[in-house]
Amino acid sequence: MERAKLNALPPALVPGQPLTALAPMQDVTTLAFMSVVADYGAPDYFVTEFFRVHDTSRLEKHIVRSIDENRTDRPIFAQLIGESIPQLERTVEELLKHPIAGIDLNLGCPAPKVYKKNVGGGLLRDPGKVDEILAALRSVCPGRFTVKMRLGFSDSSPYDDVLASVKKHQVDMLTVHGRTVKGGYRSEVDYDLIAHAVQSVPCPVLANGNVTSARSASRIIQHTGAAGVMIGRHAIRNPWIFEQCRREFAGEAYDPVCLADVHGYIENLFKATHSDQIPERAHVNRIKKFLNFVGQGVDARGEFLYDMRRTHSPEELFRVCKKHLLTSPETRFADEPYAGVIARPNCETPLTPVA
Ligand SMILES: Cc1cc2nc3c(=O)[nH]c(=O)nc-3n(C[C@H](O)[C@H](O)[C@H](O)COP(=O)(O)O)c2cc1C
Repeated sequence: MERAKLNALPPALVPGQPLTALAPMQDVTTLAFMSVVADYGAPDYFVTEFFRVHDTSRLEKHIVRSIDENRTDRPIFAQLIGESIPQLERTVEELLKHPIAGIDLNLGCPAPKVYKKNVGGGLLRDPGKVDEILAALRSVCPGRFTVKMRLGFSDSSPYDDVLASVKKHQVDMLTVHGRTVKGGYRSEVDYDLIAHAVQSVPCPVLANGNVTSARSASRIIQHTGAAGVMIGRHAIRNPWIFEQCRREFAGEAYDPVCLADVHGYIENLFKATHSDQIPERAHVNRIKKFLNFVGQGVDARGEFLYDMRRTHSPEELFRVCKKHLLTSPETRFADEPYAGVIARPNCETPLTPVA
């Protein structure tokens, strides 16, 4: 049988609808977070945090757990980041012993300590090397092999070469984050170039970058012709987003989320991420990273974020949550993030100043 048929993607939860995937996010898309998201309406696919691959790498145990103990009923792809072909091949062999839906290669990570080692987004500076890696991974992946890429390193000049390699090596699904590596997380997303990928490769393409809501997912799919969307930060803010997408794709209305629901989400996240091995303060700090995104939908002035960032204990944190989320519990949680409310102040600059 042709490879394309053998490696057909797992069907969407609602057959025939565009696909949705939760974007891989290091330190975020853990077993606990994926389980919480699934409780609010799972995406069609999950992708693990990246497994680092180098001469002395071993499969990170906590990422393996997110595969082996996945109880969401949705398939999970294992993501790799690396450039050594023998080590990538060895890692695939190890991962094939686990219940994965496929292997995904990271061609996008923009962290300087990553790209300086010529892995992740750094590989986009060398399309010839990308071609060699795709050839090697294709030959050792008996099942699905997928790629997640940015448009290029400092500009989109390598884009067509990499798309040609994706086609040549029969990649089974391509996700395009429509920014360059240098574009980080706040530059404009080029949806026209995502549409160009859809035209250039035979496999399904997922559009990624600033899919902020179910409505924006629909608009982006229409604009790009993509087979679906991959959603990262806005699923941390709004874990209802995948179910909302399904409703939106079916042309149905969905119930608004209110601030009391968001309080429940934070409680669930807190419980799911609790472990006796993590000191209380470290646990609070972890949750605050998630709440940075949640706060973008709570109030337009960023007051929840201001108070939340100054908490140190669970008691303080939940006092702040109660004040901002339960004083007026029926207030609607914004579908779209408030303009100017910044989730990661050290990494992002406001496009629109806070009013
Ligand atoms: C905290 C964080 C961690 C990330 N870690 C990864 C990763 O491990 N692998 C990867 O391919 N992309 C990673 N990304 C990029 C996301 O998968 C996604 O491409 C990017 O956030 C754009 O999508 P969004 O606008 O929906 O968030 C990360 C992004 C964030 C914010």
